[in-house]
Amino acid sequence: MKITCGTDIIEIKRIKESIEDLGEKFLERVYTKKEIAYCESKKKQKYQHYAARFAAKEAIFKAISSKLSNKYDIGWKDIEVINDQNGRPHINFLNIKIEEIDEIDISISHCREYATANVVAILK
Ligand SMILES: CC(C)(COP(=O)(O)OP(=O)(O)OC[C@H]1O[C@@H](n2cnc3c(N)ncnc32)[C@H](O)[C@@H]1OP(=O)(O)O)[C@@H](O)C(=O)NCCC(=O)NCCS
Repeated sequence: MKITCGTDIIEIKRIKESIEDLGEKFLERVYTKKEIAYCESKKKQKYQHYAARFAAKEAIFKAISSKLSNKYDIGWKDIEVINDQNGRPHINFLNIKIEEIDEIDISISHCREYATANVVAILK
């Protein structure tokens, strides 16, 4: 058993500019339909939530290491961050089962300028 962690922080402005410049093309490349629905439901605050999910995906890549992400060729949309009824975020891997991961958990935070995500994984 091995415990690994990954973290990422991102300027919300950067994600807002990508969405404004590239629109659907950017959203559809990075986010799943459920993630887009969640962020869009936040109306004016949506960029914080999009940025948080971008940071989340980067943090997951870091936690599982480049070795595993290359082995499984994981793309942005193979990872989905979904909130439960209490608002707590959870990670879903879509169309992919990473045998080496026993447990994985995430925590997200954002303010007006930055979004951050921390991931802890237990690998076999
Ligand atoms: C849940 C709570 C902690 C979120 O705090 P916040 O400062 O508004 O949250 P941040 O802006 O830092 O982060 C937002 C993220 O928190 C996460 N979050 C929301 N509810 C959560 C919960 N119940 N558990 C874990 N994470 C949660 C989400 O990922 C959210 O981002 P997302 O909507 O983009 O996914 C807060 O709303 C709350 O309920 N506080 C209670 C505090 C308390 O009872 N303290 C007593 C001592 S423990």
